[in-house]
Amino acid sequence: MKTLVIYDSVFGNTEKIAQSIAAALDTNAIPVDKVDAGQLRDLNLLVVGSPTRGFRPTEGISKLLNRLPKNNLAGVRVAAFDTRIVLETIDSKALRFLVDKGGYAANTIAKILEKKGGRLATPGEGFFVTGEQGPLKDSELERAAEWARKFQL
Ligand SMILES: Cc1cc2nc3c(=O)[nH]c(=O)nc-3n(C[C@H](O)[C@H](O)[C@H](O)COP(=O)(O)O)c2cc1C
Repeated sequence: MKTLVIYDSVFGNTEKIAQSIAAALDTNAIPVDKVDAGQLRDLNLLVVGSPTRGFRPTEGISKLLNRLPKNNLAGVRVAAFDTRIVLETIDSKALRFLVDKGGYAANTIAKILEKKGGRLATPGEGFFVTGEQGPLKDSELERAAEWARKFQL
C-alpha cells in the first residue's frame, strides 16, 4: 500500500505532527517544497497537513493541491490535518472570536482533496499549539499517531 504524508510548516510544529503521523503509517513525511508530481501517482492513501494561517492553509499547500489535475486522486483515500492555536491563549476577545469563526486549514484541504477525486478516510483534524510559534500542546504527537492509526486500515 503506497501512503504519503505531505506537509508545510513555518515554525516546525506541523512538521512534528506530520512525522508522528508518518511513523504511525509506516511512511515518510515530505515537505511541500520537496514534492514532485510523480509522487502523487498510484497512491492508496494521501495525508496532507498545514498550519492554519489566516484561517487557511499555507500558499505552498494550496498551490500544490489546486494544481493537481482533475481526478488525479480518483480512488485514493485522503485525510487532512492542520495545526491551530488554542483559543484560550488569545488575549484579544475580538481576535479570539475571529479565529473561532474564521475556519481552519484542514477543512479547506479536505475540500480540495475531494474535489480532485479523493475519498475522505476521516474528517479533517486539528492539532493544537499553545502560542503563535508553538509549542504543541501536551500529548498532541501521540494524539496524531492515534488519529492516523484509526484510518490506516
Ligand atoms: C500570520 C499567522 C496567522 C495565523 N492564523 C491562525 C488562524 O487563523 N487560526 C489559528 O487557529 N491559528 C493561527 N495561527 C497560529 C498558527 O496556526 C501556528 O503558528 C501554527 O500552528 C504553527 O505551525 P508551524 O510551526 O508548523 O508553522 C496563525 C499564526 C500566524 C503567524
